[in-house]
Amino acid sequence: MVDMSREQRKLDHIRYALELGDGPLTNGLENVHFLHNCLPELAPADIDITTTLSGIKLSVPFLVNAITGGTDNVTEINRKLAQTAAAAGAAIAVGSQYGAVKTQTNYRSFEIVRETYPEGVVFANISALATPAEAQQAVDMLSANALQIHLNPAQELVMPEGDRDFKGLLANMRRILEHVSVPVIVKETGCGMAAEQIRRLLALGFTCFDVGGAGGTNFPAIEAKRFAATGTDLAGWGLATAPSLIEAAAVCGKNDTIVASGGLRDGLASAKALALGADAVGMSGNILRCIMEDGVEVAQQELLEIITDLRLLMLLTGSRDLKALRKTPLYFTGALREFLLCRGHDPIRLSAVRRN
Ligand SMILES: Cc1cc2nc3c(=O)[nH]c(=O)nc-3n(C[C@H](O)[C@H](O)[C@H](O)COP(=O)(O)O)c2cc1C
Repeated sequence: MVDMSREQRKLDHIRYALELGDGPLTNGLENVHFLHNCLPELAPADIDITTTLSGIKLSVPFLVNAITGGTDNVTEINRKLAQTAAAAGAAIAVGSQYGAVKTQTNYRSFEIVRETYPEGVVFANISALATPAEAQQAVDMLSANALQIHLNPAQELVMPEGDRDFKGLLANMRRILEHVSVPVIVKETGCGMAAEQIRRLLALGFTCFDVGGAGGTNFPAIEAKRFAATGTDLAGWGLATAPSLIEAAAVCGKNDTIVASGGLRDGLASAKALALGADAVGMSGNILRCIMEDGVEVAQQELLEIITDLRLLMLLTGSRDLKALRKTPLYFTGALREFLLCRGHDPIRLSAVRRN
């Protein structure tokens, strides 16, 4: 059975994500600053940007994050997203497969990603409401290397048909974690994560978190645009990416994995996110925009330029690898500094090192 409302929703999300762009909140990284190192004692060939994400090795610390799938109309978009990730050696996540596994339809729009990028690191994506068997089906559909479970309560609350009852999600997610054959990434979709939730997830055995902070694509705003009549306005809600990362780094151990996402659009923002403790950077809205407005070659070029800029910035901070980047000096200003003080993060200690 083809679900017309689901298909329309997928297309509306793309349309309104492009129409609305990022914000109104910022990702908070404008309040994070590097110190220039005029004596880097490094050459570009020395810079190592390889990373490990839940035990999976990546040659570049980038991920084309979850966007779409679930209707034939987006198969071509997913092919182009996979071509973009492949050009850079980045990982790629597909959009939610929940509807597809529920109705056993539209697998093609997802399978195209693995077909286009056979050697790639590909992530499946499912709702926290999925059964363990459905989650494994999503993984099998793509021979996925890991599974993202997405959390989006603010988005749901703006949708008239959205979920209202979020009780029992943790227990269900734990069942998924115990059942599936690949590492699990818990992911927000643009409203961020705080230390309290990450601690609860760590206690249940989760080890990989994509903070999905505010400052980029804004799903409460997208849904408000789709349902103007509801009048619910949560467009300014959420914890931005920079404070979310600081919270994650404060509670994660060295064997846990942090993905930074939410409004990361260039090499400088990526370098700052990695310096705050992220193991990789996820990007959705900007890559989607390039593909839809300028074509796949421009999207590939854009991602490659971001990676080149990251390498240059690592050189300019004297950071040979991502571990060194986490120890390069930073300082914090404005609202982010207020946040650090209120939440008990010591800005002077964080200036020297952010993560074990
Ligand atoms: C059109 C569109 C659809 C999305 N659909 C999903 C989805 O199905 N599942 C999911 O986990 N995240 C989804 N996201 C959220 C992104 O993966 C990401 O968390 C969010 O957009 C913030 O990153 P950004 O600011 O780089 O866009 C979607 C994003 C966009 C732009």
